[in-house]
Amino acid sequence: MTQLRIPGPTPCPEEVLQAMSRQMINHRGEEFAAILGDVTARMQQMFQTKNDVYMLTGSGTGALEAMAVNMISPGDKVLSVSVGVFGERFAAIARQFGADVIPLNFEWGKAADPDAVRKALQDEPKIKTVLVTHNETSTGVTNDLAAISAVVKEFGKLLLVDAISSLGSINLPVDEWRCDVVATGSQKGWMVPPGMAMVSISPEGWKANAEAKAPRFYWDFAKAKSYAEKGQTPWTPAVSIMFAFEASLDMLLKEGLANVVARHARIAQMARDGVRSLGLSLFADEKYASNTVTAVAATNGLDPKKLNKIMREEHDIVIAGGQQTLGDKIFRIGHLGWISEEEIKEVLAALKVALPKAGFKA
Ligand SMILES: Cc1ncc(COP(=O)(O)O)c(C=O)c1O
Repeated sequence: MTQLRIPGPTPCPEEVLQAMSRQMINHRGEEFAAILGDVTARMQQMFQTKNDVYMLTGSGTGALEAMAVNMISPGDKVLSVSVGVFGERFAAIARQFGADVIPLNFEWGKAADPDAVRKALQDEPKIKTVLVTHNETSTGVTNDLAAISAVVKEFGKLLLVDAISSLGSINLPVDEWRCDVVATGSQKGWMVPPGMAMVSISPEGWKANAEAKAPRFYWDFAKAKSYAEKGQTPWTPAVSIMFAFEASLDMLLKEGLANVVARHARIAQMARDGVRSLGLSLFADEKYASNTVTAVAATNGLDPKKLNKIMREEHDIVIAGGQQTLGDKIFRIGHLGWISEEEIKEVLAALKVALPKAGFKA
């Protein structure tokens, strides 16, 4: 079987695939209401929050747009803390809906510096909202969200977090870290196919939502709230993905969130140690290297596109390339969701054979 080692979509366990093969049900009926209530409550446990959580039908980018349109008014000053492709995407969405985006960009491969966030907030007191990516999938960097959030809250600003490739795999206690709106996507560490995004909204977030004037319809959080009160979603949801979540949350909560997080840390360490032992180096600053995706620098003659092709054709392992300007500079190994130590060992063993064929000289 092909091994999918990209940072989402990720493989689904048999239990999840089985759960999804169920017949459709009425999404305005009691059975769906019970599933929605159950999945939402367990999602709150995974988010470590008492805030409202909503199941949105759409991809992660949809959730980024939902955060922007629900929390921002045209002309609002918004600080965008960006360390890669997805940070830039979040900023672009806010800009598209009329925000006056102040970019605070860091070199790709590095993490955001909380002191620079403080300085930016000092320099421009009119900033209302801060956008930050918790785990930058394009560079394999996890920002120090606790430290960034502490700074943002020192200034009493609203904090919107893209936790699409971290939540449920990397620790993110939403309430403890006072994150106002946080989004993640089903196809990442959740062991579920693409199709849904989950967002949490704090009381501060709701206040901002009441004042925000960006145009919105499909993503309107107020509609999500009023329908959730009657056990529904405003629009037809991805019902099969809800079935999948019932099974995956059973597995994740049985393992325990702390154990799931520890497993991701252990497997990521194994991936990092493994690539280094092959003579490769990490693209990401070691101190902030992600526990869901490892970005590896293509040095010593390595052609990363050729490597990916060899891995796929000769080893049946699909790894990810670099995005945008990183296309010739890195390759990435996804290790989130349903993945074991054994599977990472197999990736490393295949890399050992494939690397020299892709031009790498140790
Ligand atoms: C950090 C991050 N943000 C946003 C997205 C976009 O999500 P989607 O591709 O589901 O729209 C991704 C997807 O890889 C991501 O990793």
